[in-house]
Amino acid sequence: MYKDKILKLLRSSKAGFISGEELARKCGISRTMVWKHVKSLERDGFGIQAVPSQGYRITSVPDILRLGDIKPGLKTRIIGKEIELLPEVASTNTLAMEMASNGAPEGTVVIAEMQTGGKGRLGRKWISPKGNLYFSLILRPDIPMYKAPLITLMGAVAVASAIRKQCALETAIKWPNDVLISGRKVSGLLTEMSAEQDRIRHIVLGIGVDVNMDLGVLPPDVRELTTTLAVAAGEKINRTALLQEILRDLDHWYQAFLSNVQDVLSAWKSLNMTIGNRVTVSGAGETHEGLAQGIDNEGRLIIRLDDGAIRTVAAGDVTMQKKL
Ligand code: BTN
Repeated sequence: MYKDKILKLLRSSKAGFISGEELARKCGISRTMVWKHVKSLERDGFGIQAVPSQGYRITSVPDILRLGDIKPGLKTRIIGKEIELLPEVASTNTLAMEMASNGAPEGTVVIAEMQTGGKGRLGRKWISPKGNLYFSLILRPDIPMYKAPLITLMGAVAVASAIRKQCALETAIKWPNDVLISGRKVSGLLTEMSAEQDRIRHIVLGIGVDVNMDLGVLPPDVRELTTTLAVAAGEKINRTALLQEILRDLDHWYQAFLSNVQDVLSAWKSLNMTIGNRVTVSGAGETHEGLAQGIDNEGRLIIRLDDGAIRTVAAGDVTMQKKL
């Protein structure tokens, strides 16, 4: 596409300005066509300065995700070989599940700028305005069904470590897979799967990261438990670079998961903030209170109740109490 080529040339112009004539020559189109594409880039949100006898220069880039920015340099083996990027969708998880049923290959990533029906864990909504990251991976691991929850733990490890590297922020994982900064949630993961008997057909791992949104869009009860990376870092975050880092880490940790689950469990343990704390875990109509002792090989939380009994919990919400 000429528009993409013009954008690339404008972005790589060392001199700042690049003349309409040079753009026209390099693209093999007329100067009038160059001008039309520049106007179209402006409509996309790019700030472009046009100075007679000097040419064009980019003054600002919009905060939008573009495939042409995400794919180059990704260098992943499995994750992101195919990427579907949409301005808006009900839920990237729902779309990815449909695409997986229709044969989309393993590693396909579905990304949206916003979701109108974002889904959270335990049947909750995931409020999904513009400015954040919402994406889902299609995975086809050859594993028994009971190991599927480990995929979500693997995802949390990847997200927590990518944020550490890209934003230099101290992340921690709250069981099972919430990523927190200073005790406030910044990312959540939702796994859905299709299976027959004990055979997994496909798994969709959905990830939402609160990056640059205005926290004011959240209802007060959710807002007080939530932060964004921009708030935590004190500056706007480059979503493209962060997304690339997360996809690279997912690629790494998914392969680790396939070859040796223990590596993922150790990484999860080293990033987690739940083990060793008194917790209240509620879910499936039950509430357990006690000391979070560890996780088992299937990612379930092991709790020692006050009467000494041990409970193993597969799903639920954790509230942390004071460390003993
Ligand atoms: C949670 O409750 O913590 C899980 C939130 C998961 C949200 C992500 S956003 C991308 C993907 N699509 C969805 O509808 N949900 C997940």
